[in-house]
Amino acid sequence: MIVDYAMHPELPARLFGRAEAPLTEFTSQASRRRLKTTEILITGWGCPVLDAEALDAAPLLKAVVHAAGSVKGHVTPEVFARGIVVSSAADANAIPVAEFTLAMILLANKAVPRLVREYHAAREDLGLLTQHNDLGNYRKVVGIVGASRIGRRVIELLRPFDLQVLVADPYATDLVTHDLDEVVGRSDVVSIHAPATRETYRMMGAERLRALKDGATLINTARGSLVDEAALIAELQKRRIFAILDVTDPEPPAADSPLWTLPNVVLTPHVAGALGSEVARLGAAALDEVVRLTRGAPLKYEVDPRVLSYQA
Ligand SMILES: NC(=O)c1ccc[n+]([C@@H]2O[C@H](COP(=O)([O-])OP(=O)(O)OC[C@H]3O[C@@H](n4cnc5c(N)ncnc54)[C@H](O)[C@@H]3O)[C@@H](O)[C@H]2O)c1
Repeated sequence: MIVDYAMHPELPARLFGRAEAPLTEFTSQASRRRLKTTEILITGWGCPVLDAEALDAAPLLKAVVHAAGSVKGHVTPEVFARGIVVSSAADANAIPVAEFTLAMILLANKAVPRLVREYHAAREDLGLLTQHNDLGNYRKVVGIVGASRIGRRVIELLRPFDLQVLVADPYATDLVTHDLDEVVGRSDVVSIHAPATRETYRMMGAERLRALKDGATLINTARGSLVDEAALIAELQKRRIFAILDVTDPEPPAADSPLWTLPNVVLTPHVAGALGSEVARLGAAALDEVVRLTRGAPLKYEVDPRVLSYQA
């Protein structure tokens, strides 16, 4: 049974040899008829909530395979309480976010967003070659906030470069970590990769934003709620720091938000995760999980409800 396989056109054909229309709700009689015989539910972005009522309609359900990242939007504690296993494609979705972040870190250290602007304005040689300046990716410090799936991938991708990486994460016991304040104060680029939880709400508050080094860049591909946006705008208005924001709070920013016009901000429309060609990777990951289930093999990306409180 497929809820939303549009993200991977091969999926229904490979599973059933024919396409079935995805369910977009769990309440109509037609949906209920299909749920009644459903054993594996493949879910996608925007899936309706799997509450007790929906689950009552699916008495044979044994697995929910999410062909996207976080399952928090639709998988309720009731799902786990009924012994239904849950899998997510968050690992596959981490790949493009980490790639995006790597690119942005390298461009930020090289001051590319600023230089593009200055070159366009000046329309003449900026004289950079003869300047002693701090541009570039040699011996810079990159702070990674959150050794999450994405954070860990970014750390791996940064290995070949002449960059020092500092990690802040109270849960990562297997890595050398530093206190968040130390990471913020020492880094040339701070990249946020922690999940949105009660604990991380506005973790980048006014004081920490003020503690960023002059010329530092804050990259946020995680969630807007992790940053105190008013405080960030205040800091950016001093033209002291830079920001690359793929996520904001609210999203998109209000029409009159200074984030649209501040020259030291690069604003992207929540595109770091799987997009375009990358979406098929999510479907492929889900399909692999379904194949494992049908063979009786363990899931590779099973969601552990015990750690969901500090995961995305
Ligand atoms: N921009 C996009 O398109 C996009 C796409 C995918 C994910 N995301 C976001 O990226 C972030 C990371 O996603 P993920 O799947 O890698 O997360 P994840 O679920 O793997 O992260 C969980 C880990 O984060 C760390 N963590 C938890 N609380 C922390 C804290 N207070 N301080 C530091 N570290 C903490 C812990 O190591 C924990 O194990 C999330 O906010 C997610 O919503 C954005």
